[in-house]
Amino acid sequence: MNRRRRIYEGKAKIIFEGPETGTYIQFFKDDTTAFNARKHAVIEGKGVLNNRISEYIFSRLERIGIPTHFIKRLNMREQLIHAVEIIPLEVVVRNVAAGSLAKRFGLEEGMPLPHTVVEFYYKKDSLNDPMVSEEHILAFGWATPQELEEIMAHAVRINDFLSGLFLGAGIQLVDFKMEFGRMWENDMMQVVLADEISPDSARLWDMQTGNKLDKDRFRQDLGGLVEAYQEVARRLGILNENETPRLKRPVLVK
Ligand code: TMP
Repeated sequence: MNRRRRIYEGKAKIIFEGPETGTYIQFFKDDTTAFNARKHAVIEGKGVLNNRISEYIFSRLERIGIPTHFIKRLNMREQLIHAVEIIPLEVVVRNVAAGSLAKRFGLEEGMPLPHTVVEFYYKKDSLNDPMVSEEHILAFGWATPQELEEIMAHAVRINDFLSGLFLGAGIQLVDFKMEFGRMWENDMMQVVLADEISPDSARLWDMQTGNKLDKDRFRQDLGGLVEAYQEVARRLGILNENETPRLKRPVLVK
């Protein structure tokens, strides 16, 4: 049984107290939700895949100098992270029309946007995460002007880098959601990338077939969610050969 102190439980993850001051442990659940949890299922294996995919993405981002909360992966479902204070914003970056943007403006899904679009949503389940403007963010003090500037700069850079990373794997990064946090070191505060980036929080389309390799498989009842996430992991070179599902029976080599 788990005797660690639970700091926070979200829809797909749990944050526990970490082994040292200033650290937390982020646990990835198999719970899968959509439409503010009005739709819910437990999909075995999803948490393990998101843990690995998010670890890979955060490590790659660290290597290009994006500060993140990530320290290291501990096991199949857990990561050691820096304790941060989450800024209550969902930062969505879009390259192609899909999801709520396509719906709101009556755009055809799949239309490339002439300009990358960054949107902010206020992170508040009881209000259904309403879309907000920079004016709202500043007026209500959810972030300071300097923090917003840093968030925008990181968001654009992360999008450029990840678009290229996925392109190399034959995947189009349609849109994705990020969360940022405040991390203190002595008296200095830094805005860092937090939460996760995984097929739960991004739209990832196969460049060749247009197949959806993300949580839209669950939102739209398409099935094959774990297989799609496995495909993303495999293409990013994360899964070892012996971890990929065996499609054929082993053949005896003579
Ligand atoms: P949307 O088109 O539904 O607004 O979603 C935009 C992106 O943000 C998409 O990649 C999915 C992700 N997302 C989340 O990670 N959490 C959420 O609660 C929502 C609504 C979207």
